[in-house]
Amino acid sequence: MSVSSVPTAPRLVLGIDTSCDDTGVGVVELAPDGTLTVRSNRVWSQTVHARYGGVMPELASREHVERIADITRDALAEAGVTLSDIGAVAATSGPGLVGALLVGLMYGKGLAQALDVPFYAAHHLEGHIHAAAAEGNLQAPYLALVVSGGHTHLFDVPRDGEYVLVGATKDDAAGEAFDKIARLAGLGYPGGPAISDAATRGNADAVLLKEPLQGQKGFDFSFSGLKTAALLAHRAGAKPEDLAASFQRMAVHFLVKTTVRAAEATGRDTVVVSGGVAANRALREAFARTDLRVVFPGAGLNTDNGAMIALAGAAALQQGRPASALDGGASAYAPLANV
Ligand code: KG4
Ligand code: ZN
Repeated sequence: MSVSSVPTAPRLVLGIDTSCDDTGVGVVELAPDGTLTVRSNRVWSQTVHARYGGVMPELASREHVERIADITRDALAEAGVTLSDIGAVAATSGPGLVGALLVGLMYGKGLAQALDVPFYAAHHLEGHIHAAAAEGNLQAPYLALVVSGGHTHLFDVPRDGEYVLVGATKDDAAGEAFDKIARLAGLGYPGGPAISDAATRGNADAVLLKEPLQGQKGFDFSFSGLKTAALLAHRAGAKPEDLAASFQRMAVHFLVKTTVRAAEATGRDTVVVSGGVAANRALREAFARTDLRVVFPGAGLNTDNGAMIALAGAAALQQGRPASALDGGASAYAPLANV
C-alpha cells in the first residue's frame, strides 16, 4: 500500500498515546455523517514514579513496553471489536519523552503495517484539543486552551486543522504549578486533584497572591511567581488547605481572564479547554460564568489517553490529510504552531 493513499472511509480508528507516564489506547468510530463516537478508552497510569515525586523517563519507557499489548487488547475488547475491524491507526509522535513516545509510535506503525491500513502520526496537543472539540461536535473557528502538566498553550483555530499560537506560558505549565505546590504543602502527587480537594477546606483569602503578568497586552501565562509566593507563605506557616484554596483561586482567575481577553481580541465566541487541568472543578465553574461557549472533554478524556489520539486521527481522515510515512521519528519538542 502506498503511504499516501487513503482507502475508502475507514470507520474505526485505534489511537495510542505513550508520551509520558500513561499508556493509553482507545477506539473511535467515525460515522459516514462525520459523527465521532469514543467506543473505548483504556489507560494504564504508571504508579512507579510516585516515590520519586516526578516522572522517571527510563522507567516510563519500560513500563509502556510491558503494558501496551494488554492495554490494546483491553481497548479492543471494550469497543467490542477485533483488530481486523480497525481501519486506521494513530499514535503520538511528539512532544513528550522520546523513549516513551517511541514505544507507542513503533507499536502503532507495526499494527498499521500488519493490518495494511493508513497510519497517522499525531501531535499530542492536537489530541487534547480534539478530545474537547469532539465532545461538542465542534467545527472551527474556536479558541483552544490546553492546560496540562507540560503545557499551557492558547491557540486560535481559524479552520479545522490550522493552529495559530496566541499565548503560552513563559515558565511553568499550569499543571506543573499545581503539582509543585501540592508537593511543597505535603498534599501528594499528582497535585491537581490534591489541591482541588484541599481547597474545599481552605480559605482562599488567607494567602495574598499577586496576579501574574498584570497589565500585559498579550495572552501569555506565568506560574513561577505564584509558586515562589506559595513557597514563602508555606515557610511563614500557611496551612496547606489555605495555600491550596488561595493558589487555585488565583490560577483559575488568571487562566479564565486571559482566555476571555483573547476571545474578545480574536472575535471567537467558543473555547475548548482540555488537558489534565481541564478536570479542575473550580476552573469549569469559572468558565461557566463567562459569556463564552466553553466545551470540555468528556469523562476520562481530560488527562492523557489514547482515545484523544484516535479522535485526532479521525479528524485527519475527515480532512483528507495524507497518511504519515512509516519512517518518521518521535520528537521531544514539536510545536503545533508558531506565533
Ligand atoms: O494532560 P495530562 O494528563 O498530562 C500532560 O500532558 O501533562 O495532565 C496532567 C496534569 C498534572 O499536572 C495534574 O496535576 C493536572 O493535570 N490535573 C489537575 C487536575 N487533575 C489533573 N489539575 C488541577 N485540577 C485537577 N482536578
Ligand atoms: Zn497531555
